[in-house]
Amino acid sequence: MLAWTKNAQEPGGLALADVPEPTPRPDELLVRVDAFAPNPGDLAALASLSDGAIPGWDGSGVVIEAAADGLGPQAGERVVFLSLAARGWAEHRAVPHTMTASAPRDVSPERLATLPVPATSALRAVRRLGSVLGRRMLIVGATGAVGRVAVQLAARSGAHVVAVARDGGQHEELRRLGAHEVHGTTEAVEGRVHGAIDLIGGDELVRAYSLLAPGGTAIALGHAAGADEHFPYGAFVADPATADRSITSFFLGSEPGLPEEMAYLAADRDLDVGPLDIRPWTEVADWVASGGARTSGRPVFRIAHDD
Ligand SMILES: NC(=O)c1ccc[n+]([C@@H]2O[C@H](COP(=O)([O-])OP(=O)(O)OC[C@H]3O[C@@H](n4cnc5c(N)ncnc54)[C@H](OP(=O)(O)O)[C@@H]3O)[C@@H](O)[C@H]2O)c1
Repeated sequence: MLAWTKNAQEPGGLALADVPEPTPRPDELLVRVDAFAPNPGDLAALASLSDGAIPGWDGSGVVIEAAADGLGPQAGERVVFLSLAARGWAEHRAVPHTMTASAPRDVSPERLATLPVPATSALRAVRRLGSVLGRRMLIVGATGAVGRVAVQLAARSGAHVVAVARDGGQHEELRRLGAHEVHGTTEAVEGRVHGAIDLIGGDELVRAYSLLAPGGTAIALGHAAGADEHFPYGAFVADPATADRSITSFFLGSEPGLPEEMAYLAADRDLDVGPLDIRPWTEVADWVASGGARTSGRPVFRIAHDD
């Protein structure tokens, strides 16, 4: 089968190569990969892969062979999947059934491919903040794949959503998705928030923490700015107005329950994943070599199969 493999000599550090078919373990399904949408984490991980390794965490496709232990989706089912062991940018891959969910047949593979890492992260982050009904919730980096879903899930959970996005051209869109307030930076946010989901890090995370009400939590989910965090003296000195505030780290793969969560998101036709920039998968290396930018929408790569 064909797969993108790390090859430091090639443009984008990737070469499309003929590689052996995967050999699933007893708890793994063999899937035909139909589409994948690279995440920032996929791109960051490329540098540390050894030559010959296949990148790619998540995607969508169809089960070729069910897991030998009989669990999980069965042959012929449409599925979404993720595995932080990578190997996803390939015609076929083996994935554990604990990281695979059945998806409706009438939802496109390209849409499904956008969901596993970002939408599940957003769902888990919103849930981690507990009941947000009637409470102010801050989402920093709201235009990204995670932030966009987080805005929608928080709004439908009854939160007063305070979205922060540096691109003013996207503010109206964020209001349409359910944000009640939209700001260009956390510096412009007034009043306290019950919880925060931060995708940016650096100064934005420091300020998100400072905006927390007593008992509030800031989830440091993403680090898109790639910047250090410096908390000023006093940030952690508590008084009645600042008591019991916390910052927590986040790792998508740290809890069970992914299949149920991905199945819920895959079946959710109301979730707006935004415009997609669908390309043939043969263009992956060129896209990576050009910087992996989003232009007309979230890049999704489609694999055309002969069978
Ligand atoms: N911990 C985990 O398990 C986990 C899981 C999923 C994602 N993540 C992390 O979460 C972050 C977001 O992921 P994503 O998939 O949503 O990424 P994405 O779709 O590429 O979105 C990135 C977001 O960050 C904004 N941004 C980038 N650089 C910025 C800067 N210097 N200042 C302010 N805003 C900036 C972008 O704004 P523009 O729209 O203006 O470009 C966009 O809103 C990434 O760091 C990713 O690695 C972590």
